[in-house]
Amino acid sequence: MLVRCAFIETYKTPFYCNNFSSHSTMSIYQATTSAPVNIACIKYWGKRNESLILPTNSSLSVTLSQDNLRSTTTARADPSFTADCLWLNGKVDPIKPGGRLHTCISEMKRLRAAFEAANPDQPKIASFNVHICSFNNFPTAAGLASSASGFAALVYALAKLYALPQTPEELSLIARRGSGSACRSLFGGFVAWDMGSDDVTGLDSKARQVAPESHWPEMEALICVVNDAKKGTSSTSGMQRTVVTSALLQHRIGYVVPSRMADIESAIADKRFGDFAEITMRDSNQFHAVALDTYPPIFYMNDVSRAIIAIITEYNRLSDQPKAAYTYDAGPNAVIYALTPNVREIAQLILYYFPQAEKIVIGGQEVEAALPEGFNEAVAKRWEVGSVKGLIHTRVGDGPRVLSDSEALLNAQGIPKVLA
Ligand code: DP6
Repeated sequence: MLVRCAFIETYKTPFYCNNFSSHSTMSIYQATTSAPVNIACIKYWGKRNESLILPTNSSLSVTLSQDNLRSTTTARADPSFTADCLWLNGKVDPIKPGGRLHTCISEMKRLRAAFEAANPDQPKIASFNVHICSFNNFPTAAGLASSASGFAALVYALAKLYALPQTPEELSLIARRGSGSACRSLFGGFVAWDMGSDDVTGLDSKARQVAPESHWPEMEALICVVNDAKKGTSSTSGMQRTVVTSALLQHRIGYVVPSRMADIESAIADKRFGDFAEITMRDSNQFHAVALDTYPPIFYMNDVSRAIIAIITEYNRLSDQPKAAYTYDAGPNAVIYALTPNVREIAQLILYYFPQAEKIVIGGQEVEAALPEGFNEAVAKRWEVGSVKGLIHTRVGDGPRVLSDSEALLNAQGIPKVLA
């Protein structure tokens, strides 16, 4: 498979086809989409079925705007392609038989074959090989859920390529097989992944939109990039070890998550930020406690992460209700959720402790380091430039988008434009 892909990469002779021209003699079957990153407030951590990717608890996330962070994917089916091929960020990513990419692509081909069987007038493209080219506009494996947006964009691109009638909820079942958290990136806004109870088919373990982005557009996020290198223990192997060794995980999945899910859904419905924030911070804390309870233990947060927790805790002490919510995934980067009127003040605070080499601009205005009135400065030391490598300001956003042909990542020959 790899050898064939390498051959295709260097294959420069143009094919005699182009459906974008009126003189075309063959059709081009291609679609380009983008999909968002999501950051969980109630964390998914643990599988009860590894091959179907069925979780040990339900989870809930906020979809972040694709204007800032996104995966873009072009998928094309063509009878001349000699193998299914995928390029991620310009490099061939092998599609291993039985692997997650393979499962997602085969499932989508199966849906297309069923669609063709039910609609005999449709072109027979399910049996063609596909070329897929994907690009993340942020560092892969930086703890910024690149697999979530990546698999969501891939499944959505294939769904558009194949003109499938499936709903985002139905497509989430397939994205889940790529990476559990990817199922939540099929929707914008606030999204739950209901764990389901059918362990044989997994058909009830899917994403559901709790509220669209328009419900609470004041929800913004400040991402503190603490480390943009590939993380130590992957989510997949980390959670596997937790399921086998942590007694605390059983308490979490049995007694804590079910009521938290109900509580956060109601906080979102009523736009009660204080409750939303407390649940989010408590759940991040418990997820990292469960990582620590894993044997041998897993540490995802570092001293910078913990300093940010101390700073946000002190900030929240100044008002009766929390105005900021930190959360950390399987890495040291902090995501801080806050409402529009408070974001600048929080960014000023972060800059006070973590000076930046580059200017930070929010709402068209440069942010200056500052402490709010009454803030106890001693909760953390002031770090050197580079301790927080960057700040990304973004907001709640929409679900996957269909992009135009001009944004396609494959050229007329079906080869990534960056390699051609
Ligand atoms: C901490 O979805 O990356 O971000 O299903 O094995 O691919 P796999 O794991 P993945 O795990 C994400 C874990 C998390 C929490 C979350 O996003 O809910």
